[in-house]
Amino acid sequence: MSKLKNDTFLRALLRQSTEYTPVWMMRQAGRYLPEYLRTRTKARDFMGLCKNPDLATEATLQPLARFPLDAAILFSDILTIPDAMGLGLYFSTGEGPKFKRALHHEKEIRNLIVPDPNVHLRYVMDAVSQIRKALNNEVPLIGFAGSPFTLACYMVEGRSSSDFIRVKTMLYQRPELLHHILDVNARAVTAHLNAQIEAGAQAVMIFDSWGGALSHAAYHEFSLAYMKQIVGGLKREHDGKKVPCIVYTKGGGLWLESIAAIGCDAIGLDWTIDIGEARSLVGDKVALQGNLDPAVLFSNPDTIRTEVDKVLLSCGKGSGHVFNLGHGISQFTEPENAAAMVTAVHELSRKYHYS
Ligand code: CP3
Repeated sequence: MSKLKNDTFLRALLRQSTEYTPVWMMRQAGRYLPEYLRTRTKARDFMGLCKNPDLATEATLQPLARFPLDAAILFSDILTIPDAMGLGLYFSTGEGPKFKRALHHEKEIRNLIVPDPNVHLRYVMDAVSQIRKALNNEVPLIGFAGSPFTLACYMVEGRSSSDFIRVKTMLYQRPELLHHILDVNARAVTAHLNAQIEAGAQAVMIFDSWGGALSHAAYHEFSLAYMKQIVGGLKREHDGKKVPCIVYTKGGGLWLESIAAIGCDAIGLDWTIDIGEARSLVGDKVALQGNLDPAVLFSNPDTIRTEVDKVLLSCGKGSGHVFNLGHGISQFTEPENAAAMVTAVHELSRKYHYS
């Protein structure tokens, strides 16, 4: 396999030195790009895009054609796993994801099985290999999955939720049932990420979007413990190359030391913590990814530049930082403002790196 032309992102994740801070954006392929909206009309719905490797490749490459990003992320969704478990994922316009067969009864929960990623999620692996070919070793490809707890939120609630009443009721009333779901999910995520690595993903990220809704004790028991199980089961090397792993808990700023201890290479930060403070908490144990407030991109290029510099300054000199937003880019973002962020990171970060 030939050499990556730009491996800055992978080196930063492994805390090796780089000439500048690499940057990519969570949800970089998506509705804020007019070309994505055009691609979407070629499929029946969002899942139709995910299940068609040609279209998934097209969507993955769109942000890279516009901005000099240092990594690509697979176009897919975290909810493909519960869909492959038979829960019947669908998207109704304006309302986000929903499941036809959410987990309401113990029998359904006890019958859950770990899907074989190379059979039931074949379309994801096909997309990964096709995207790798199309990328032509320009930048690395990130594979991803949801955390067991975040997946359980959707599987039990049946849809997006703001209070998580069903899943939290289960957590306190039938903890062993939730543990069963989480164990199945952890095995499914491990198999899914390993299959993505074998298909060509060069780094992987676990999205724990809802772990931050838990109490301190519940986070450790119901979310972090299962991410630790996954990290322990990942293939950390493929084709003679290290495959770094990033763990992101939105709202996880209070738990960074425990997250750093699960064996991941990097922690994704949301925008609520000062990145310099995060660095002093985790030391040189892990790299950090983040953490500009996505709302900064609603301002203007000058303000964006100032805010980017604040993050870089707080992070300080040295290696081990991947610049990103603290959460996904909003669909209402002007693409020009995303461009301003990427340029600012590339230009302003050089002074923080030793060459
Ligand atoms: O980052 C990327 O560009 C790669 C693709 C990607 C998508 N979803 C595509 C998508 C990734 C990494 C995800 C992760 C994801 N999906 C998460 C974790 C990250 C986070 O945002 O916290 C979660 C919770 C989901 C579940 C999900 N999928 C929701 C809640 C929604 C609808 C609301 C929303 O924010 O868009 C989706 C749909 C979805 N996934 C879209 C895209 C581009 C929009 C679909 C469309 O209408 O075209």
